[in-house]
Amino acid sequence: MAYQLSDQTLSDLKILKLPKHVAIIMDGNGRYAERLNKPRSFGHKAGALNLTNVCRIMDAMGISYLTVYAFSTENWQRPLSEVTQLFALVSQFFDQYIDEICELGVRLRFIGEIGELPLSLQKTVKRATELTHDNNKLQLIIALNYGARQEIAKAACKFALDCELQPDLLKLKAKDLEAKFASYLWTCDLPDPDLVIRTAGELRLSNFLLWQLAYAELYSTDCLWPEFGEKEILSAIVAYNQRTRKFGGLAKS
Ligand code: FPP
Repeated sequence: MAYQLSDQTLSDLKILKLPKHVAIIMDGNGRYAERLNKPRSFGHKAGALNLTNVCRIMDAMGISYLTVYAFSTENWQRPLSEVTQLFALVSQFFDQYIDEICELGVRLRFIGEIGELPLSLQKTVKRATELTHDNNKLQLIIALNYGARQEIAKAACKFALDCELQPDLLKLKAKDLEAKFASYLWTCDLPDPDLVIRTAGELRLSNFLLWQLAYAELYSTDCLWPEFGEKEILSAIVAYNQRTRKFGGLAKS
């Protein structure tokens, strides 16, 4: 069901500029569970549930793209039981919410080394991508088995191979070369995020979208991911509006 924003949020949004693309490092599931004396899996479940909530809120606000960091290439270092639980949770999430996602018109996409995931999860990813392909509201991009250094290194290899076949590529001017190189990334047809939010108070990018976040505004909140909701999203957008985006140039007067 579509989310009903509060009157206060609706009135605040009238005077705010919305970021077109928001990226989120969903951190703090473990600490949330610990605070409640529950196992870590409880925190991840609450985190997955909150993702549906945040999607509905951002869709209601009119945000076009939301990219979330669900599982990093470094997360394989966690105990196998936690990794297995996280993968099961991602599958369950789609089984449970795919109808609602379709009803909302949300398009799902995935970035990361999907081919290295368990086969059943790969199937879920394929199905979710295909089923929602023609939806035209919020695009939810899930970074799954994602690492930015890996993405960039792989793009560089593919680009090098193409340069051998088309040596003229090496003559591209810097800006064109940049655009050409970006076309080898998993995010090739997505705009760069305008705002990146990290929950649970950390101030790190943790190998998330290192190329794409070059000019994103950074926002960190102490709020733990399972508790990050409408009020917190609005605060992030207010903070975003207080920034002067210059992209290396001068502020427009
Ligand atoms: C970081 O919290 C969170 C993760 C590594 C997993 C994020 C996954 C979800 C929110 C749920 C599943 C996603 C989908 C797409 C359904 P942490 O465990 O590092 O927390 P801590 O730092 O407090 O221990």
